[in-house]
Amino acid sequence: MAYKRIVLATDGSPFAESAEHVGAALARASKASLLIVRTYERPERAQSAVERAVATASAEGLEPEVVLRDGAPADEIVEVADVKEADLIVLGSRGLSLGEQIIGSVASRVSRHAPCDVLLVRERPAKRREAGTMPYARMLVATDGSSTADRAARKGYALATPLGASVSLAFVGHPATGELILRDTAATIGEGTEPATTLILGGDPAEAIMGAAAREGLDLIVVGNRGLAGAKGLFLSSVPKKVSEYAPCDVLIARTVAQSLSEIGNGEGGIVVTGDHKVAVYRDQKGTVHALSAKCTHMGCTVKWNPGERTWDCRCHGSRFAPKGEVVNGPAAKPLEPTDL
Ligand code: FES
Repeated sequence: MAYKRIVLATDGSPFAESAEHVGAALARASKASLLIVRTYERPERAQSAVERAVATASAEGLEPEVVLRDGAPADEIVEVADVKEADLIVLGSRGLSLGEQIIGSVASRVSRHAPCDVLLVRERPAKRREAGTMPYARMLVATDGSSTADRAARKGYALATPLGASVSLAFVGHPATGELILRDTAATIGEGTEPATTLILGGDPAEAIMGAAAREGLDLIVVGNRGLAGAKGLFLSSVPKKVSEYAPCDVLIARTVAQSLSEIGNGEGGIVVTGDHKVAVYRDQKGTVHALSAKCTHMGCTVKWNPGERTWDCRCHGSRFAPKGEVVNGPAAKPLEPTDL
């Protein structure tokens, strides 16, 4: 499950340089295509600033595609990743001070709205930005055994393999449960590869994970986007948010956008992934399943089920569709297309 299409977002600023290196190195190691999205406010600066990112990619032997966008940066990055069906967005997150909030507003918004995984890259020294340098050597995968955490673990292992990086597994909570979950994760997802370390931690999950990463000198934390169960058994959706904001190292947020068909009840909708395709599935009150392409017919963003209005909504430009695909609001003019599941 290596990445196939990576969007590297840059604004040309000095701190984005680290993300440019990591994005290019990951694309090379994963044999993924690279799309550089340059957001800008002043058109005259757009082209010159993108040259550094292109040169970094060329030094890794890549021929990236370049997209220039002049809207609100986070929204433009998310839209390009969605329309181009990227599976990873790489972007810099500003800051240097341990203990202070070190994620910028663009990174924060992209993390919340991305249709795919997001890798937040902290600023790194020039030595670690040289062409051919592997971006990560020691990764930490945090899991609570949930399906989102399993996905994060799969991403972590898939990323570690081409990079030759080690994986440490961490659990926060009761030691007996942790032992079972970590052993199971290593056996099923790690395919029996012994983790470099297994860490069973207590206390606040986000603090415990970040503390372990700092103590063990790890360079990447991998978490699912839906949170981890904490020591008190509470589902804490704030965990990935807090880790992405305050971690002392880079953070990969593995995103679960899809549901399984069985999770969609009568009168509800949800996105189901089949192969490489996202399908908008609506199950009517009688239980009949209606499958539609999840691509908005305006410009191709992915629609989302709105349980309040019971419509398919497109966040890119506001189109709205009825459960069976008819247009409720434009700018889309055509209904969502029926498809197979
Ligand atoms: S892509 Fe424009 S409204 Fe959906």
